[in-house]
Amino acid sequence: MNKLIVANWKMNLDCAESLKLGGDYLKLFKKSPNQVVVCPSFLPLAQLAANFKNSLLSLGAQDAFWTLKGAYTGEISAASLRSLACTHVILGHSERRQYLAESCRMINAKAQSALDAGLTPIICVGEDAAKRKAGRSASFITGQVQRALKGLKLAKNNSLVIAYEPIWAIGTGKVSKAADTVVIHQLIRRVATKILGANTKIKVIYGGSVDLDNAASLLAESEIDGFLIGGASLSASNFYKIANIK
Ligand code: 13P
Repeated sequence: MNKLIVANWKMNLDCAESLKLGGDYLKLFKKSPNQVVVCPSFLPLAQLAANFKNSLLSLGAQDAFWTLKGAYTGEISAASLRSLACTHVILGHSERRQYLAESCRMINAKAQSALDAGLTPIICVGEDAAKRKAGRSASFITGQVQRALKGLKLAKNNSLVIAYEPIWAIGTGKVSKAADTVVIHQLIRRVATKILGANTKIKVIYGGSVDLDNAASLLAESEIDGFLIGGASLSASNFYKIANIK
């Protein structure tokens, strides 16, 4: 099927717990029809990179800074993530926009830095419940995509992922219906292609309360290139089952 299935463990696990869950993943993931990327918090990344070597699990981070080097105390660069064998990085997650006041400008700069380091950015966009109720989802998401992608320069080998993560669906058990999700994904693809050109490799994946019950019907849509999964990725067996939907 070749979808992209991404686990976002958020800040739910300490190092030992992350290594244990990574080990549980490894025992299960002997094969998968899809590309699987695991995004732990920063600290266990180095050990997980060693443990995942020669497996079909790829690694991603949950954030990266907007320049590759310099006097930025406490920050982590896309270049150092790349040196740990990370292939992907989640940027602009709504939790970071909300709790850390990440702006579209920061996310745009982080995306360029990730691309420059050879990482694939997974840029998160999505409306909250109030905007959805007001019928403003499409215009809001269009603006987020435009600001995140503005002026990005991609090299030949770069690719880019946009994750549609409606805020009202994250961790709530409310999932966006497949038909509604398809419409938003088409919009995102249209806006992104207009900015980056038709030759750019863009995937649009969905996140927000994906679980075993709703995953198959969403993944059956050709417009949905995969998932960004929070809660359900904390169970190795549930995540494995979702990642192996054919
Ligand atoms: P849940 O799958 O827990 O709703 O989280 C989605 C998410 O925010 C992934 O980045």
